[in-house]
Amino acid sequence: MTTDNRKPTTTDAGIPVASDEHSLSVGPDGPLVLHDHYLIEQMAQFNRERIPERQPHAKGSGAFGHFEVTEDVSRYTRAAVFQPGTRTEVLSRFSTVAGERGSPDTWRDPRGFALKFYTSEGNYDMVGNNTPVFFVRDPLKFQHFIRSQKRRADNNLRDHDMQWDFWTLSPESAHQVTWLMGDRGIPKTWRHMNGYSSHTYMWVNAQGEKFWVKYHFKTDQGIECLTQEEADRLAGEDGDYHTRDLFEAIERGEHPSWTLYVQVMPFAEADTYRFNPFDLTKVWPHEDYPPIKVGKLTLDRNPTDNHAEIEQAAFEPNNLVPGIGISPDKMLVARVFSYADAHRARLGVNYKHIPVNAPVAPVHSYSKDGAMRINKASDPVYAPNSKGGPAADGERYPTDSTWEAHGQMVRAPYALRRDDDDYGQANALINQVMDDAARERLVNNVVGHVAGGVKEPVLSRVFEYWKNIDAEIGRRIEEGVKSKTG
Ligand code: NDP
Ligand code: HEM
Repeated sequence: MTTDNRKPTTTDAGIPVASDEHSLSVGPDGPLVLHDHYLIEQMAQFNRERIPERQPHAKGSGAFGHFEVTEDVSRYTRAAVFQPGTRTEVLSRFSTVAGERGSPDTWRDPRGFALKFYTSEGNYDMVGNNTPVFFVRDPLKFQHFIRSQKRRADNNLRDHDMQWDFWTLSPESAHQVTWLMGDRGIPKTWRHMNGYSSHTYMWVNAQGEKFWVKYHFKTDQGIECLTQEEADRLAGEDGDYHTRDLFEAIERGEHPSWTLYVQVMPFAEADTYRFNPFDLTKVWPHEDYPPIKVGKLTLDRNPTDNHAEIEQAAFEPNNLVPGIGISPDKMLVARVFSYADAHRARLGVNYKHIPVNAPVAPVHSYSKDGAMRINKASDPVYAPNSKGGPAADGERYPTDSTWEAHGQMVRAPYALRRDDDDYGQANALINQVMDDAARERLVNNVVGHVAGGVKEPVLSRVFEYWKNIDAEIGRRIEEGVKSKTG
């Protein structure tokens, strides 16, 4: 019996139970009985508490907030979420890529920057990273890339030799690897990093005019990073350092915010731009396409149930709303399939019924049945019908975020343009953005990483790779590694 006015414990069916502590037994010392269904419910639920973790991006956390449009970008998109003055509720999740659910937050890795906007025209997901580029440009290489960053088959260890083997055989990784080995490769906290769409997306305005856009969520807290030494120490002292920081900051009332800018390229310019503007390993120089301010993202509410609201959150780049579409970036095209497939495997076919994934916009779909279905289907269950069921409105919602495509089916890299190369932008990052001290930290980070287990023949390729990016940096890395490994 409870002595205070606490609520009585119940089973999951709401039936009050007699004890939180004692199983039903035959006499105080006797055997337990099979009909103690409350004990069985406790054990069975417990055994099923874990769900598969995300394949990449398993370790992370997030918060709720809102996005407010402070400028007028209606000449570029008709998306309701980006109309002047609009305020939209948002869920965010930040993550590392390669580590498992319990891995340290401060490992050197890109950070996921995933947003779900609960817009009046359905959920819009912007599933980006804290880097503006990526390691590969063809989705057939993505799975191999992720495996090279995770664990070996034999000893289940992460392996720098395997990582550099993949990177040096994939020269398109040079820009992202340079970025990763630089200061921004370990943000101080999730509040102190930017978020980028990385990909180019399409915006379509009310007149049907199309534009190519890249998103930049710039932190209002300022960029701050951890050195390798600080990160290594924190990995031991507090593996959940970034998770804790975000939660506690919001709890203290320090609500982190980011200002959204977009780079906008007129639709036709993509054909003639000096490099392929859809290549995910490249940025658009700010000088060519200056960032245009859109609005502000603020996070002000912590989850109250991490499993229900963060672990079961399902972000998917295919959640696009009228006025926003994809681009011919091959990686993005593949992601439009991959995420919903992952969610069906990880959470079940009706994952959109989980409240955190459900839109605030009304759903009038023809989906029906399946495991764990919660929303009620209603007749008619087919279209077309003459029974008053929902009917698609192609005039109001035209399929206009498209581009022309033709040609023979091939398995080939993107056709090269004048300024398409793997090393130029990595070199610009080193020589035009970093200062001497940042270059020194870059060299030290690479030397430390490579000296930690990279062997021939990969080792020689590492020196070659860096010399291709920048001869001097390559020479310093070779010298540094050789002085460490003898
Ligand atoms: P800019 O000088 O206009 O831009 C340089 C940008 O680099 C800055 O605005 C900042 O991006 C970012 N930056 C600053 N320090 C670092 C660092 N240590 N590691 C990574 N990024 C950093 O030149 P360009 O636009 O011509 O770009 C030159 C190079 O800058 C590119 O090759 C690319 O490597 C890098 N860069 C470019 C971005 C772009 O979208 N153009 C975005 C990020 C990096 P931010 O303002 O986003 O914080
Ligand atoms: C997570 C696939 C490239 C950002 C995931 C997941 C898969 C996946 C299967 C796990 C989803 C889940 O279980 O919930 C792919 C494929 C890619 C690709 C196939 C390329 C072909 C990228 C790129 C970015 C990115 C380029 C960033 C620009 C993320 C983020 C998450 C994620 C942020 C975690 C989302 C969350 O917090 O739940 N990816 N990915 N991915 N990916 Fe990718």
